[in-house]
Amino acid sequence: MTQFRTVKSSQVVLKELMIPSYSNFGGKVHGGVILSLMDKIAYTAAASHSRQYCVTASVDSVNFVNPVEVGELVTLMASVNYVGRSSMEVGIKVYSEDFKHGINKHTNTSYFTMVAIDEHTRKPATVPGLILEEDIEVQRFIWGKFRKRFKGEYREQFKALHHDLDITSETENLRDENCQISL
Ligand SMILES: CC(C)(COP(=O)(O)OP(=O)(O)OC[C@H]1O[C@@H](n2cnc3c(N)ncnc32)[C@H](O)[C@@H]1OP(=O)(O)O)[C@@H](O)C(=O)NCCC(=O)NCCS
Repeated sequence: MTQFRTVKSSQVVLKELMIPSYSNFGGKVHGGVILSLMDKIAYTAAASHSRQYCVTASVDSVNFVNPVEVGELVTLMASVNYVGRSSMEVGIKVYSEDFKHGINKHTNTSYFTMVAIDEHTRKPATVPGLILEEDIEVQRFIWGKFRKRFKGEYREQFKALHHDLDITSETENLRDENCQISL
């Protein structure tokens, strides 16, 4: 297997026109349509880097900062930012373009963690490392390393909380929350 590959060798751009069947009841493009395109491009970048079958392990929070309208052209740009042993963080930027008014809007940025899977064992498989050729690539790798660490810590803390949480006393703390308990 190739030991290292450049970031550029797996960068992907995907463009898709937002057609009427993608709209929600409010007339804007359904968020799920954008999420599906993001998953598709994340897979393409991860599979191009690893040359293996990959699965989506996790998706960072996705904050839509601008709505996407029917008729706009959506452009997604993806890059492998960070790789571990078998996981790859893919950074995705989404823009939408309003042809009529010549306006480009940033829709959202998110990070997908993809894991390469060995075809025979179906277990996580080792992936090539990244060749970092620009300052920005080094910076993205460092941020990706920290995101991986913090996400791992969050998963562990939440697992521990699941074990330790006292639901009876926490139920008492719901008084100031926006709920009515009618057991
Ligand atoms: C993701 C998956 C392969 C991890 O399997 P696992 O047995 O927990 O594997 P490991 O603990 O050895 O972790 C493998 C890698 O995945 C990463 N990983 C595991 N769970 C993760 C999570 N929830 N978020 C981010 N990364 C994760 C680990 O950090 C590790 O990375 P590294 O090898 O670069 O250090 C497994 O949970 C899986 O198959 N999930 C289903 C994925 C899927 O089907 N997605 C599509 C849903 S429709």
